Amino acid sequence: MFAFENWYIAARSEEVHNAPLGRKFLNQDVVLFRTQDGEVCALGAVCAHRGADLGKGRIVGSSIQCPWHGWQYGADGRCNLVPSQGPCGKIPRGARVPVYPLHEAQGYIHIWMKPDTQPTWYPPAHDFFNTRYHIKSPVRFQRGSFINTVEAACDDAHVYIAHAQTIGMAAPAHLAPIIDVKSTEDGRAVQGRMVWPIERKRSFKGLSAWYQKHLLGLGEDSNTHDRHYRVELSGLVVHRYPKADGFDFIVYAATTPADEFTNWFFAGTIDTHPQRSFIGNFLYWLARNRTSRVFDEDEDMITSTLTDNLPGGHPRPISVNSDAMGLAFRRLYARQVLAEGGTPAWPVAGMVPADVQEKVREKVGEKMQENVT
Ligand code: FES
Ligand SMILES: [Fe+2]
Repeated sequence: MFAFENWYIAARSEEVHNAPLGRKFLNQDVVLFRTQDGEVCALGAVCAHRGADLGKGRIVGSSIQCPWHGWQYGADGRCNLVPSQGPCGKIPRGARVPVYPLHEAQGYIHIWMKPDTQPTWYPPAHDFFNTRYHIKSPVRFQRGSFINTVEAACDDAHVYIAHAQTIGMAAPAHLAPIIDVKSTEDGRAVQGRMVWPIERKRSFKGLSAWYQKHLLGLGEDSNTHDRHYRVELSGLVVHRYPKADGFDFIVYAATTPADEFTNWFFAGTIDTHPQRSFIGNFLYWLARNRTSRVFDEDEDMITSTLTDNLPGGHPRPISVNSDAMGLAFRRLYARQVLAEGGTPAWPVAGMVPADVQEKVREKVGEKMQENVT
């Protein structure tokens, strides 16, 4: 159900030191650590000997040592020491663990979830990650299906309803249409935009107004009321709001599935202005707490769609215009899952439901892929 030949965010750079960080991604136990030279590595966390969790081990030089019998593995995944065999002892052939390709850039460590293979592409760089006013929300591990979590991150229709207590509901929830939904040239992201009606501009008061301005880009300094969405195959969602000062306000959230029911969630807000006032900066910093509450509200909703046998949410969802970016992501991701020979776990508009797909696949084999556009 997941796309494995794909990059996901595994951790923030500052989370990985020369101590093991164990995390599950796409149902695979992985251990991340840095070698003596500061190079980051990711290995399968199940020891080749008796399966102990390398995430509970320790780093010795540039190797990771299993906490049980002390076998050590280098960054290449090969066992280079079996203590019980003595210093010159033989190391069994095949004593190795999977190696996951990594790409560390702009404060994030990206992981290619098909171990022991060469990635066929690399995650795109985003200049905004390098800007000065980048407030990162605490890394979250939360319940919910991958698809519902990514969709919540690019869905504005729930904001005035589900976040009435935090962001505020001083305006009617009706939205401008999402337009210009287009795939990027490389086919690994979809972009779209929403142009807000001008009269919404002064609908908000007090704290709500502040959050509308800074979290939703609807403030008086927003000249265009133009909002740009981008969803990437990796589960990264970016909202960009151009401001009157010529710079952008950006809200982003990257979801990485741990399994069918839980996800890692990396989010942040960015102001691309090179110099912000002290007060302005302090207010942005304060917004962190509020942002965590907003994410708690999302998690409640996302979790409510989970059932034991249906991690993808509603089996026959009905969609409206405000779901456009979420649907674009469903299609983008489903196409990759199908290309790898898997079956998407959630329905995609314009696509045959999963159970029917399986039957069709048996009958017509490869032709199935042509049904997804
Ligand atoms: S289980 Fe890892 S060394 Fe024995
Ligand atoms: Fe939300």
